[in-house]
Amino acid sequence: MLKIIENFKKGQVYVNYSRILPYVKPYWFRATLAMLICIPIGSLDAVIALSLKPYMDLVMVEKTVQSPWYIPFGIVAFTIIQGLLNYTATYLNTWVGGKITNDLKMTLYKKMLSFETGYFDKRKSGDIVFRFNNDADLACSGLLENLKTFVSRIFSSISLIAVLFYNSWQLAVIAVVVLGGAFLPLANIRKRIKSVMDKTVSASSAIITAYNESFAGNKTIISYNLGDYQKNRFSEILSNIFSLRIKMVQRTSWLSPMMHVIVSVGIGLAIGYGSHLILTKQITSGNFVSFITALIMLYTPIKSLGNNFNAVQMSFMAIERVFNVLESQPTIKDKENAKTLPREHKKIKFENINFEYIKNKPVLKNISLDVNKGETVAFVGNSGGGKSTIVSLVPRFYDVISGAIKIDDINIRDYTLKSLRENIAVVFQDNFLFSGTIKENILLGKQNASDEEIKNALQMAYLDEFVATLKDGWDTQIGERGMLLSGGQKQRVAIARAFLKNAPIIILDEATSALDNKAEAIVQKAIDNLMKDKTVFVIAHRLSTIQNADKIAVINEGKLVELGSHEELMKIENGQYKTLYEMQFKKQATATKA
Ligand SMILES: Nc1ncnc2c1ncn2[C@@H]1O[C@H](COP(=O)(O)OP(=O)(O)OP(=O)(O)O)[C@@H](O)[C@H]1O
Ligand SMILES: [Mg+2]
Repeated sequence: MLKIIENFKKGQVYVNYSRILPYVKPYWFRATLAMLICIPIGSLDAVIALSLKPYMDLVMVEKTVQSPWYIPFGIVAFTIIQGLLNYTATYLNTWVGGKITNDLKMTLYKKMLSFETGYFDKRKSGDIVFRFNNDADLACSGLLENLKTFVSRIFSSISLIAVLFYNSWQLAVIAVVVLGGAFLPLANIRKRIKSVMDKTVSASSAIITAYNESFAGNKTIISYNLGDYQKNRFSEILSNIFSLRIKMVQRTSWLSPMMHVIVSVGIGLAIGYGSHLILTKQITSGNFVSFITALIMLYTPIKSLGNNFNAVQMSFMAIERVFNVLESQPTIKDKENAKTLPREHKKIKFENINFEYIKNKPVLKNISLDVNKGETVAFVGNSGGGKSTIVSLVPRFYDVISGAIKIDDINIRDYTLKSLRENIAVVFQDNFLFSGTIKENILLGKQNASDEEIKNALQMAYLDEFVATLKDGWDTQIGERGMLLSGGQKQRVAIARAFLKNAPIIILDEATSALDNKAEAIVQKAIDNLMKDKTVFVIAHRLSTIQNADKIAVINEGKLVELGSHEELMKIENGQYKTLYEMQFKKQATATKA
């Protein structure tokens, strides 16, 4: 028994479980009530066992009482009371449990939203669902269901043990020693199931990821005939989960039978020695019957305790994972006393910035760049050179490794994230639209915008004509990720959203290459509207944007190799921009002229 407690304590080294208390605190009254109710539920068990002694002795052996009506009546009455209490306890437990689960999930969700882009880059969707949702369920439900059982069992055990001692202390000592022995197989259980449990978690999250990818990637799966390939991968995950489940059974399911055997030894010893005690008249038959009943009542739950104990261990492990998540801190967060970035600012400066996603694999090398208010900087260069990366540093999706980005000579890390991001509107290469209507998606730019403002944004984004053709207008549902819209329409919804935000800094990862010429021209006009009077960072593929930019920054292999206006850069003999222009952009120029 001591060993179990020791092992149990060892498990607690990782996480201090008292951290769950703040979640119980708001509901402490009902939670306490639920626990208190478990005391009579447990103790009432003993009443039945106890009542058997006078019944046996007075009615069956001595026959001094004729019609003991109160005994059967009492048994039924007690059971009714127990039933009512049970119902109330279950109700209260579910209520408290539901509230705590919701609160925990809310805290986890808030935590999730606080993490930086890099956190999500490294993880799969299945991991996120499992860690932030399933683990919270597992932690709370496992804990609460088992807590109720646990508390009532403890009190039932205490009162039943009291009955044992009341009837015969010699037999009771045997019973209690055997009881202790029955717990022995539980020692080390945690260590035995921990690795299997960890693997089960990652296998279960792999299955969620598989579903997500099959959903999001269904077109790729169909077009590459990946049905069989996907099926094989899925079948692998399933058989992995299967073998883990079997492993879990191998490691735990002998517990209960083992405890069964130990318990039967106890019952055997009690009956054997008990018979001797009766024959030598040391105890009455009533004592004996009452003792055996109490003993069986005491041992019955213990036999299934093995399974219970596993469940509790699993929910403890889930609690540990939950608290690990809650303890981990986002790396990109507000400094203490962070300032608010004012809307009116004059210049943005990149000072010797270096950046890497993976340690010692530099993606941006020593880049310096000055941008004045209202200027447009166009980034051009080879694919994978670091253009998208450099612009993602401005709203702090990632933080620089060294150097600094400054707005009006103050490091952007000294501004609040909220104010920094309020001043920046981003249109990505691949824009995320939420399921809902066009209007709802545009409103994300400014949640309290008037209908007038939305109309204006639609016009500026060249979406008004398209919206007018829809039966439900801007209340049209666009499907998950905007699946029901064309590429160009999606892009323009994103542009309209950025419009409504009306931020002084615009970041455009301009990816219109996927669009046909006509759609491209429309999106381009929308983008031109968006760029007006703003400080713009644009990753440009279009000659007109590049030529009109105040500055063109050529990024090659993470280095800023050329910087200047179109005319300036064209003057550099064998310059990279000039080469790029001649290879790529000239075609566009002739195509536009034709
Ligand atoms: N989240 C990420 N984690 C790790 N590496 C990344 C990540 N995003 C990009 N990279 C790597 O960083 C480098 C720069 O990528 P980036 O997306 O900035 O290129 P780019 O210039 O925008 O290219 P393109 O013109 O093709 O869009 C690439 O080598 C890419 O593989
Ligand atoms: Mg890019």
